[in-house]
Amino acid sequence: MSKILYISSEAFPLIKTGGLADVAGSLPVALLKNSQDIRLLLPAYPEVLKQISKSKKRAVTSYYNLPLEIIETRLPGSNVIVWLVDCPAAFNRPGGPYSDPQGEPWQDNALRFAIFCHAAVDIALGKLQLDWLPDIVHCNDWQTGLVPALLNLQSNRPATVFTIHNLAYQGLFDQQTFVDLELPDELWHMDGLEFYGQLSFIKGGLAYADEITTVSPTYAHEILEPEYGYGLNDLLKNRSQHLSGILNGIDEKHWNPGTDQHLIQKYNRRSLDNKSINKTALQQELSLPRDSSIPMVGMISRLVEQKGLEIILQSMETLLGLPVQLVILGTGEQHYETQLSKLAQLHPDRLKVVIGYDESLSHRIEAASDMYLMPSTFEPCGLNQLYSLRYGTLPIVTNVGGLADTVTDANEISIKNESANGFILKENSAEALLTTIKRALALYQTPEVWRQLQITAMSGDFSWQTSAEHYIALYQRILKQA
Ligand code: ADP
Ligand code: GLC
Repeated sequence: MSKILYISSEAFPLIKTGGLADVAGSLPVALLKNSQDIRLLLPAYPEVLKQISKSKKRAVTSYYNLPLEIIETRLPGSNVIVWLVDCPAAFNRPGGPYSDPQGEPWQDNALRFAIFCHAAVDIALGKLQLDWLPDIVHCNDWQTGLVPALLNLQSNRPATVFTIHNLAYQGLFDQQTFVDLELPDELWHMDGLEFYGQLSFIKGGLAYADEITTVSPTYAHEILEPEYGYGLNDLLKNRSQHLSGILNGIDEKHWNPGTDQHLIQKYNRRSLDNKSINKTALQQELSLPRDSSIPMVGMISRLVEQKGLEIILQSMETLLGLPVQLVILGTGEQHYETQLSKLAQLHPDRLKVVIGYDESLSHRIEAASDMYLMPSTFEPCGLNQLYSLRYGTLPIVTNVGGLADTVTDANEISIKNESANGFILKENSAEALLTTIKRALALYQTPEVWRQLQITAMSGDFSWQTSAEHYIALYQRILKQA
């Protein structure tokens, strides 16, 4: 058994903006189930404070003259102990975890997450008298990047793991911020926190963590190349002995079409005929023509370039001329929201766009759709293709990252040996997207083959158990070396 301090800036169901929350809300549960002694450290945003019932104050301190308390509670629906970093000046304000209500990044993000990191470091070193000292400090994404850097300056410290969920977000600030945050001078150099004259939070994780992981094996290779490395590929190459990819799992308590409370009609592999009841119900809900035979393509996503919005928009006119219904749920960059909404107004029978964040609707779209669209330019792991597989909704994806690791393209051989579970674009282009969608639509007309693909998709093992075992093996390896 190891003692693990798991640090994340979001965790489902307390606070979520994307896949990191899904991971931080379910991997700790799986680790606990596998007898690990785990604490989840999370900022106390207003949404989080609203949801907790029982809690107790465990410690009081301050950073940068801002008072802070550590509050202990449980992750709803589990026994995982959560320690909330309750620094009202940093976290208790309306808006998102990273952005203000207008969608602009908070001006003081560096300070906010520096405070979060200092609290984590002090807990890890036993300075807050919580009667619990971790063997492993497991950090996630740039918001936690200062933790491995600051811990590395200590002689008697726990081991550190840093997981990259997305290398494109690095937490970059100007040099003055480094000075203002009073970070130790010995961290300011090109092998430390400095990145072309700027302060890089993520480099704290990449340069100083004992082990680096990312969320799929293919992404772990891709980020060594300039195309996906965002200027950090050389550093990662130098550290490649300590870099590995562990595929995310899915939380089967929340994502299981046989038990999903959000669905009009539950179904499983043996009752797949019932799936289409969800389609006609969604058509009615979203005012699309009611027709169980027309193929429905779903997408639930942050509306950003990463998720393939460029090639989707380039193909849209042609796509909407095909016999399909397209349902998109998302929020993100304004210009994508506007372009998609305009197209939906022009093609009300073909395209429904819901701008917003809606957990329940996202489940209904997964169940209702026949295919799922995810032509990402890069994808560290991706969870929606995994949810889609679980729901018998065949993913249409690009051949990158976690998508490449989880989807097997339907071709003559893979159909014959029953390994096919989706469709992969030959290249990242609008033309390839259209060709692939047409290929999927043609196969949809052969119900026996389609059914086999769905069964293969739904039979895949994407549970957290396998991934949790990989993490535990990694923890044990590091502790042995230490
Ligand atoms: P990323 O973390 O890059 O956004 P993932 O595929 O790993 O991508 O995870 C995205 C998660 O966020 C999924 O659980 C997805 O269902 C959810 N999600 C994204 N946008 C929305 C939305 N508008 N409404 C509801 N859920 C959403
Ligand atoms: C990131 C990635 C996504 C991954 C998620 C959880 O947001 O973009 O691919 O699934 O983190 O690890």
